[in-house]
Amino acid sequence: MINMFLRKPLMGWNSWNTFRDEISEELIMQVADEMVSGGYRDAGYQYVIIDDCWALKDRNENGEMVADPKKFPHGMKYLSDYIHEKGLKFGMYSCAGLKTCAGFPGSYGNEYIDAQTFANWGVDYLKYDYCHFPQSGNVQQAYHTMSMALKATGRDIVFSACNWGQGEPGTWMRSIGADMYRSTGDIFDNFESVKKIFEIQREHIQEGAIGCFNDMDMLVVGINGNGLASGVGGCTEDEYKTHFSLWCLLGSPLIIGADIRKIDEFGRNLLLNNELIAINQDSEVRPPFEVRTFSEDTRAFIKHVSDNEFIMAYYNFRDEDNEVQIYFADIGVPTYSGYCFELTDIFSGECISGVRDYYTPIIPKHGCKLYRARLVKR
Ligand code: GLA
Repeated sequence: MINMFLRKPLMGWNSWNTFRDEISEELIMQVADEMVSGGYRDAGYQYVIIDDCWALKDRNENGEMVADPKKFPHGMKYLSDYIHEKGLKFGMYSCAGLKTCAGFPGSYGNEYIDAQTFANWGVDYLKYDYCHFPQSGNVQQAYHTMSMALKATGRDIVFSACNWGQGEPGTWMRSIGADMYRSTGDIFDNFESVKKIFEIQREHIQEGAIGCFNDMDMLVVGINGNGLASGVGGCTEDEYKTHFSLWCLLGSPLIIGADIRKIDEFGRNLLLNNELIAINQDSEVRPPFEVRTFSEDTRAFIKHVSDNEFIMAYYNFRDEDNEVQIYFADIGVPTYSGYCFELTDIFSGECISGVRDYYTPIIPKHGCKLYRARLVKR
């Protein structure tokens, strides 16, 4: 058995944001096809995850959960085989409570039987939600029980805990064997939601690390207001760039929520931007360091990455264009160091050399600029 210990944030696709309960075998197979032909698999997006609403409302006579035969006529093992044949991994969903959020059977009190069902189906990833959790229950105990039940199957199944950041999961989720856990509430497809999740996550940046990552929820890039579960609104191109680059920078798992069969060119290119993905998947797996800025509602970070390089990231959450400053003395390169930076713009590829003391680009409203930086002797 290979140990599925996650060394980098997990990448994949999940059905919830766009499709909610309108899921089917046909849809999941088409998405798996597109993951390959659209270049997503090769860019690193490996997991195809079915979220809530896949089951029948009742368990069978053996107490097992049953896939809804109207939605999944050939059953889950068939779908799992199809996904595996494409070089992809198969993810599924259950809930620590008595029912899932959409009212389908939850795993509370059935953890061992359900974990075995998932293992029999060849599942590689389990998202484990938190709705309808009994008042008498103990949340840490419940997540620990499913973690153990998955281990007991002997199959490598990524345990993706999803209790929406409640009860300070950063202090115990890693210890009970979770591979990743939701550190915030649900995302919606608008800038307010992206900003809110980011602001919550800012308090926990150091908690996501190798072996157990903070999950800031699925991506809304490319949904453009068309998601059944992620709500109306949509984001501008600058807002989607801010969203995706923040998830990359903060080391969140990257789980696409858009309909990749129909996604627009901008959304597809953003999700496949290999410079941004490289930041997320960097082998040093360091969290970024937040640098002070001088105007309200602007944020700046430096992230140390491999090969002695750095990512400098500037964000403007204001409703108008604004300058955002990084003083290099604040990131360990004061004037007396004798060094300057050479910057490469992650989006445009433009090279800026001889940058010393400070760098203060103008950032568009709700937008960002990211640079890959190198130290050079002046
Ligand atoms: C919760 C989760 C979502 C999604 C839904 C499904 O809200 O946080 O990500 O899984 O349940 O009902």
